[in-house]
Amino acid sequence: MRMYDLIEKKKLGEELTTEEIYHIVNGYTRDEIPDYQISALLMAIYFKGMNVRERYDLTMAMRDSGDILDLSSIDGVKIDKHSTGGVGDKVTLVLGPIIASIGVPVAKMSGRGLGHTGGTIDKLEAFPGFNGALSEKAFIKQVNAIKIAVTGQSKNLAPADKKLYALRDVTATVDEISLITGSIMSKKLAAGTDAIVLDVTVGDGAFMKTKEDALNLAKSMVDIGKRADKKIAAYLTNMDEPLGYAVGNNLEVIEAINALNGNGPKDLMEVVYALGSQMIVFSGIETDKAKARKLMEEAVASGKAFEKFVQFIEMQGGDASYAKDISKFEPAKYVIPVEACCDGYVHAMKAEAFGLASMSLGGGRETFDDEIDMSVGIVLAKKVGDQVKKGEALCYVHANDETKAKKAIEMINEATIIKAEKCDENKLIIDVVE
Ligand code: URA
Repeated sequence: MRMYDLIEKKKLGEELTTEEIYHIVNGYTRDEIPDYQISALLMAIYFKGMNVRERYDLTMAMRDSGDILDLSSIDGVKIDKHSTGGVGDKVTLVLGPIIASIGVPVAKMSGRGLGHTGGTIDKLEAFPGFNGALSEKAFIKQVNAIKIAVTGQSKNLAPADKKLYALRDVTATVDEISLITGSIMSKKLAAGTDAIVLDVTVGDGAFMKTKEDALNLAKSMVDIGKRADKKIAAYLTNMDEPLGYAVGNNLEVIEAINALNGNGPKDLMEVVYALGSQMIVFSGIETDKAKARKLMEEAVASGKAFEKFVQFIEMQGGDASYAKDISKFEPAKYVIPVEACCDGYVHAMKAEAFGLASMSLGGGRETFDDEIDMSVGIVLAKKVGDQVKKGEALCYVHANDETKAKKAIEMINEATIIKAEKCDENKLIIDVVE
């Protein structure tokens, strides 16, 4: 099989066979095919796309390029939840303990943050001592013992994706539905759960800027999941403004703790309850989503969910006294209000710019080797739809460096739109693909 011929075939819009797709993925993973030929192929796929069969084969070939977790020794239906990325997205921190406290096994592999979006493992490291790199054996043992474990992605999970993603990133071929489907679903299928709930974010701070693109991606991933015999659903959720009020590692963890204690922001809880009730239904514990939601609300109100969170942090070596006393989290040196320029209603607080502003304060990474400043970030005082008076605080910048704070304030001012006319709050759950 000549790589030249395969590039030519895709360039002309023809279909690649299963054997050809495996040849490409395996050859590239083993360094037998050079970057320049894969780059050309990726660009051909970008323009010509892949049909559903090709996408399935691509996903399976990428899944099979490394380890596939065997979670069969965990009791019950194992469910994964995955977000395509957002700003202020602390859903896993809240959702995981709630449904684990109801008896749903949460065996979650999470990533680290990159660019303007954060990662769950980074946030959990706000608890001193937290171990986000469990062995497979320890991971399984913990889920059986307390129903929840969260660990970083193992190094040999879908290694083809690691290579391909790095190449896509520098060849302007990230934003293509077949390639995104293969990338996300190969990792989800290798993670070995029985069911998958996808949070496909839509809007300014998301990968997918329009509902149409997000819906296409959601349908594509659900289709592949079903072909692989998984229970799967995708929720399209709004990411035009940050989710909740807090952006930044410690600040988001504090918001998550407050949410588990019954004081969660409305938008965050809407996403948590929507995804969680779907996960409970997939688990078989409840058949009706409304009743599943009730179970979740009761778990929060009774304190069961918070207790589960504390148990989970302790079990992974973290100092859970921080969860019981949030004043222990190191605060930033400066907390500076960003004031409204005029009277009116908030029409936009553009999520991507808020994420980038938090990153510029030191709260995020540009490359995987960057260190994160856990204490910096932004806490919103207003959300889209709120009325605001001139000079009133729109948000607070938490910074350790005055020059960086100034830059973040400029970015926030540019990203916030206030108009005289009223404006509705953002609708959180935009669509569901099952
Ligand atoms: N997230 C991934 O893991 N892969 C993509 O291609 C896009 C988002």
